[in-house]
Amino acid sequence: MALILSFYSYIVMFIILMMSSKMCTSFYPQQLCKPIYPAKSIPVYKKDIDLLQFPVNLEYLEAEFFLFSALGHGLDVVEPELAMGGPPPIGAEKANLDLLTRKIITEFAYQEVGHLRALNNTVGLFPRPKLDLRAENFAKLFDEAFGYKLDPPFNPYHNSLNYMLASYVIPYVGLVGYVGTNPFIKGYRSKRVLAGLLGVESGQDAVIRMYLYERAEKVVYPYNHTVADFTIQISNLRNKLAMCGIKDEGLFVPPELGAEQRISSNVLSADYYSLSYQRTQQEILRIVYGTGNEHIPGGFFPEGGKGKIAIKFLKK
Ligand SMILES: *[C@@H]1O[C@H](CO)[C@@H](O)[C@H](O)[C@H]1NC(C)=O
Ligand SMILES: *[C@@H]1O[C@H](CO)[C@@H](O)[C@H](O)[C@H]1NC(C)=O
Repeated sequence: MALILSFYSYIVMFIILMMSSKMCTSFYPQQLCKPIYPAKSIPVYKKDIDLLQFPVNLEYLEAEFFLFSALGHGLDVVEPELAMGGPPPIGAEKANLDLLTRKIITEFAYQEVGHLRALNNTVGLFPRPKLDLRAENFAKLFDEAFGYKLDPPFNPYHNSLNYMLASYVIPYVGLVGYVGTNPFIKGYRSKRVLAGLLGVESGQDAVIRMYLYERAEKVVYPYNHTVADFTIQISNLRNKLAMCGIKDEGLFVPPELGAEQRISSNVLSADYYSLSYQRTQQEILRIVYGTGNEHIPGGFFPEGGKGKIAIKFLKK
């Protein structure tokens, strides 16, 4: 009975929501729902373009990783125009995911397509860079995180838990990058897009971390390491590659690094004030290239990133 009731109240809520969102666009004048920016404000400054194009590299990486893993195909099938003629990713596979994980990752995948669309409309895209999503490439990263060769090699596509551990690697880098870019962005439209991207990237990171937190003590078969160990080692590796101190924390930390220096539980990674960490473009490249050097491509970007900023570092 209670179930049926809650089902109906859900439907009623849904209808009310649908109606209210309709009303906002049709019954009321637009001014009630849209912010009014000062008359002389500029939507996108020239400098914003390079700054917001930089994360397009990461959005391509996420879009292809999530799309292929969930659906078995990528942007070239879902929205070929957004790939801008860039080469297809290497070694991306449909992952062996359970229903829950597949639903989450499918949603993330389409969100990334939306992010590329938003960036296309705000600052324009460049052709998709060459991406290395081979299982062996992830295996290499995990070997580096642990400091020895895992046996058998870690395979992100093998099951849901492995997949979520591999996903732990990606949206977080986007998140800290957006926090780092924010102070340099000036236009109101660029700021709005950046905040929207940051919000959803942090949401994705939180979902992944929660999934792993619920399984923190579980041993990742057939390795002699718990889920928590994996997160700590990956976070440590990212800190090491970026070379700028601790800006990345696993699911448990010494209490000094926890919220208010009082707690070891660390379902979210954050600084002394529980604010998200920020990273510069150089730090991001050192991590996603896996080389610890923004001038030397590798890792997920065998030929490096694209856009003015990433290319400038490659040339030096
Ligand atoms: C990308 O942006 C261009 C220019 O604004 C637009 O013409 C094109 O339709 C956009 N592509 C997609 C897939 O949204
Ligand atoms: C597995 O790890 C535990 C705890 O770190 C250690 O005590 C144990 O010896 C390890 N076992 C193997 C087979 O490596």
